[in-house]
Amino acid sequence: MVKNANHQKVMLIGDGAVGSSYAYAMALQGVAEEFGIIDIAKERTIGDALDLEDATAFSFPKKIYSAEYADCKDADLVVITAGAPQKPGETRLDLVNKNLGILSTIVKPIVESGFDGIFLVAANPVDILTYATWKLSGFPKHKVIGSGPSLDTARLRAAIAKMTGINDPRSIHAFIMGEHGDSEFAAYSAATIGGKPFLDWAQENNITAAQLDEMEDQVRNKAYEIINRKGATFYGVATALARISKAILRDEGAVLPVSAYMDGQYGLNDIYIGTPGVVDGNGLRQIIEVPLNEAEQAKMTASAATLKQVLTDGMN
Ligand code: 2OP
Repeated sequence: MVKNANHQKVMLIGDGAVGSSYAYAMALQGVAEEFGIIDIAKERTIGDALDLEDATAFSFPKKIYSAEYADCKDADLVVITAGAPQKPGETRLDLVNKNLGILSTIVKPIVESGFDGIFLVAANPVDILTYATWKLSGFPKHKVIGSGPSLDTARLRAAIAKMTGINDPRSIHAFIMGEHGDSEFAAYSAATIGGKPFLDWAQENNITAAQLDEMEDQVRNKAYEIINRKGATFYGVATALARISKAILRDEGAVLPVSAYMDGQYGLNDIYIGTPGVVDGNGLRQIIEVPLNEAEQAKMTASAATLKQVLTDGMN
């Protein structure tokens, strides 16, 4: 549980493009009074902390500093973005060996510091690295969360907003589920707008199944589109991380898409994968098991099988 609602402490591990964008997003929000940054590039963390300190004069008072692992001891939240990013042509799963190696050097000193808050993992492949963080830390499963399909879901909601002309993506209730990666899928059958099933809206507006498939494909491939053009994605995931952080630090009980440990939900076990869940000061309070149709359930099963294979190959 968040220890002191008036003084919340977040530690960021990984000060690359995603990490520093997340730090900036957090600096602009009134959550987390203390924010420590850890990276093997120590000088960069000092520079970033000084730069972000300047931003706080225009936003919220906050202590921002270059930190050490020992500083994790009394943190409420540790956010892990450290790892190699995708290069053009690489999939998220291609990063697994490199980033599992990096992760294994990170989790141990955090746990040794006495940290007993919540882990939020964003480094890719995020479902695998969240599972590994859970294993390596020995923490209870509700205290280890992955950013999972939070970004893909934002992309889907924005795409549906564009398609329907209902311009505010926050009014679109729809989720991407499964792996944060190539086997993810849109749970269209459960999507609603103002309580109306999205698939009814699509039918009334002559939107074909092929058009829905195309939108799902565009969402799935959006990261590649961005990486091919600017080499990396960071603002989207950073803002998604800030949203999840806020739900934890403000004990919101918000329904958000995350990577969560499966204990029988969707017929899956012993795996982290994307689903909506309730996020509060204790981490993941519960999974919301979406009533998937048969085709979507088959996609969830197949996505989990892909991740299971990577776990079997990578963790042994
Ligand atoms: C993204 O989806 C690359 O996982 C990152 O933008």
